[in-house]
Amino acid sequence: MKLTPEQRAQFERDGYLFFPGHFSAEETKVLTDAVPDLYAKREAFNVREKGSDAVRTNFAAHLVSEPFARLARHPRMVEPVVDLFGEEVYMHQFKINGKMAFEGDVWQWHQDYGTWLNDDLMPTERAMNVAIFLDDVNEHNGPLMFIPGSHRKGVVDAKHDLTTTSYPLWTVDNDLIRQLVERAGGRQGGIVSPKGPAGSMILFHSCLVHASGSNLSPFNRVAVYLSLCAVSNHIRRHKRPEYIAHRDFTPIELLPDDCLLNPYPVDVPWKNGLPQSALRTSPDVLDTVEA
Ligand code: SIN
Ligand code: MN
Repeated sequence: MKLTPEQRAQFERDGYLFFPGHFSAEETKVLTDAVPDLYAKREAFNVREKGSDAVRTNFAAHLVSEPFARLARHPRMVEPVVDLFGEEVYMHQFKINGKMAFEGDVWQWHQDYGTWLNDDLMPTERAMNVAIFLDDVNEHNGPLMFIPGSHRKGVVDAKHDLTTTSYPLWTVDNDLIRQLVERAGGRQGGIVSPKGPAGSMILFHSCLVHASGSNLSPFNRVAVYLSLCAVSNHIRRHKRPEYIAHRDFTPIELLPDDCLLNPYPVDVPWKNGLPQSALRTSPDVLDTVEA
């Protein structure tokens, strides 16, 4: 799947592209059905909400669960990113965010590349976020909020917030958010929230400033976030464990387009539990840095 010149221009301008209903209900169900087993596991890769057993985010499902391993190699998801970068990509991060009914907490305003730069020493912003809805997303269940065009500011100031939620994040302060929203149109389009059925997909730039409110509705808002990094732009430090920031920089090999509906064989190396190596961290900069 290639992007049209109009889509490329829109991505450059707004920092995101929305594809409602990109995966069918049948394809999405294969993924949704695999979530309860993953969320039930008592492993480090399940980060639970503050003071609650609800899963906030699950890491590395593509190494644990076959349906998600197949999604990670899906051409309808990977090809537009390769097309935009003009280069092959590897999987930098893989999350399934719960945002569960009544319990899903906020994600403060942030840019993902801020974290990847500060924590992982990713050299440039040549990495893309892909969100895939596993539930319908509406105005009630904590949709993502984007500030269109904010990616064009590059990396903005952020501070490391270790206390607001159960997951540390480099967050952008309110004064700067006010300015960015004003510049993007204020009350007229300064914040947008793509909403749509389960199976919808969003591509968004790693510098796009985004957030989401809490989910006080009775509707879950489970979504997969895949972060695809251009191979030449791989991270240079392993300060975070491998289940959060991956260390396999080999290009993603694609499966056929029907891979969610047919059981093509895939490797799921962490199926029986996280290996000790996936928990190790190091402050050192890699010495295998190529151009
Ligand atoms: C994120 O920004 O990583 C998650 C946001 C959300 O799930 O609402
Ligand atoms: Mn984010």
